[in-house]
Amino acid sequence: MEKKYIIAGNWKMNKTHLDAKEFIKDIIPQVNKARSTVYIAVPFTALQTAVEAAKDTNIVIGAQNMHDEENGAFTGEISSSQLKCLDVKFVILGHSERRHIFKEDNAFINRKVIRALKDGLKPILCIGETKEEREKKLTHQILDTQFSEGIKNISNEEAANLTIAYEPVWAIGTGISATSEIAENTHTYIRKLIIKYFDNKIANSMHILYGGSVKPDNVEELMQQENIDGVLVGGAALKVESFAQIVNKA
Ligand code: PGA
Repeated sequence: MEKKYIIAGNWKMNKTHLDAKEFIKDIIPQVNKARSTVYIAVPFTALQTAVEAAKDTNIVIGAQNMHDEENGAFTGEISSSQLKCLDVKFVILGHSERRHIFKEDNAFINRKVIRALKDGLKPILCIGETKEEREKKLTHQILDTQFSEGIKNISNEEAANLTIAYEPVWAIGTGISATSEIAENTHTYIRKLIIKYFDNKIANSMHILYGGSVKPDNVEELMQQENIDGVLVGGAALKVESFAQIVNKA
């Protein structure tokens, strides 16, 4: 069976719930024939509205983060059961902004991945090197660590619901996407990493998304690469027109 691509938008800290309602209403007719699965990760405050607006459509709503504990004294945090209760389907974990700005480490991200999978949310685990790390030829080492520590104690069965996003930090929000060649080489490396930890069937069916300055004019070339199974889009996912173009070109 052919793998269906995942085209995921990440709104980050943008848009109110009112904006979300309008955006989803406007984009539904433009993406309803998409061959790919359409994901949108919205801010916590827009989740309920977005889930309602996307009901009975091909748009899947997710969150951008969560805490690993079930509940308790964690002021300002959100749990996976709170997300599940809103009918949220997926969650982005370990995004580079969480790692770098909010100092989340691999162990914390791993606990979140475990919790999300146990509670029936599909995690998108983000991994990727900084510019300095790439220049020092540390890319593979960084990916090894972020991947192996991120998926610790996850079974083959659970891994069937896991998606990986390769997001080189130097390409995020910079307008400078990785070339399709760099992206494909790195995705091939990540596929080998997955095979190291999970069985072949899981490794081949697991989606590896590319993220970092994806736009309507570079998505086609990226998506033609064998090991790129979709994209994670930040800036260009904020406008109906550009996100719909990305979805339809992929
Ligand atoms: P960008 O962000 O498309 O704006 O580079 C991607 C991301 O952070 O997921």
